[in-house]
Amino acid sequence: MMTSSPLNKFAAQALPQLEDYMWAHLDQAHDAHLAKAMHYSLAAGGKRLRPLLLLATATGLGASLDAAIPAAAAIEFIHTYSLIHDDLPAMDNAAMRRGQPANHVQFNEATAILAGDALLTDAFALVSATDVSAQQQVALVRILATSAGSQGMVAGQQLDLDGSHLQLTTDQLNELNAHKTGELIRAAVDMGAVIGAADAATRATLAQFAGAFGLGFQLLDDIEDVTMSAAQLGKPAHQDAANGKNTYVALLGLAGARNLLQQQADAAQAALLQLDMQTDVLRAIAQYLE
Ligand code: IPE
Ligand code: IPE
Ligand code: MG
Ligand code: MG
Ligand code: MG
Repeated sequence: MMTSSPLNKFAAQALPQLEDYMWAHLDQAHDAHLAKAMHYSLAAGGKRLRPLLLLATATGLGASLDAAIPAAAAIEFIHTYSLIHDDLPAMDNAAMRRGQPANHVQFNEATAILAGDALLTDAFALVSATDVSAQQQVALVRILATSAGSQGMVAGQQLDLDGSHLQLTTDQLNELNAHKTGELIRAAVDMGAVIGAADAATRATLAQFAGAFGLGFQLLDDIEDVTMSAAQLGKPAHQDAANGKNTYVALLGLAGARNLLQQQADAAQAALLQLDMQTDVLRAIAQYLE
């Protein structure tokens, strides 16, 4: 993702600001051990895709980076919590994440659960500090809550667990992934749209972009699980088949999954072409799928 120059430039400016903001927040935690466990996973070197999508959307619409940073931190907090809990023995039972021991391996299960709880809860304090109108703040809180909770990512995780060792149809797999992965990606873009005060038509086109990108992103994650090594991924490889997971590769084969990925990459770029706003950074992010 970091090979395209508009994105490199944008990330070089935005990510240090995002990280300063996140670390300043952790400095206020009441318990040093908890803060350390939260920092451990946040600092581990994720791609920061969701905050970049949010920030690129907001600034592409003319908002300032400063205004959008708290919301970007909020979505990275939620995403990081989801990964910590996803790796727990009761869920995917993965010992490595972001190139280092998973949170529950480095600390222990109870601390990993609490670090996730704290990241999830603190996200709402962060998002409510976004430098926008009160009405926009309420909209942001609602998008974040809806995309993360029982209508969004957590529902997708439940579908993922319940579907393990069963053969889902393509429709069921799409439904699972639209929630598990798609919802937080949709939220990142939609929060950027709210911060940038996008009109309804722009917001709808951005949602088309996010839908295609989100599906493509999970396709790539499923493909890389079989084609890449743990060292390349920074997390265990060949986990999905071992866990009896429903993936696009299992359902469509590698070539079928790659074909559908190309379709999503094209659809994401096509949606961006329809927009009357600055999209150079979003286009570079979408190239991650290619
Ligand atoms: C991994 O997300 C989990 C999925 C939703 C597929 P990322 O690939 O964005 O993980 P990080 O943030 O870079 O670690
Ligand atoms: C997890 O999907 C998505 C989350 C909501 C955390 P996966 O289980 O496929 O993600 P990885 O492969 O462990 O990163
Ligand atoms: Mg999982
Ligand atoms: Mg997993
Ligand atoms: Mg995966």
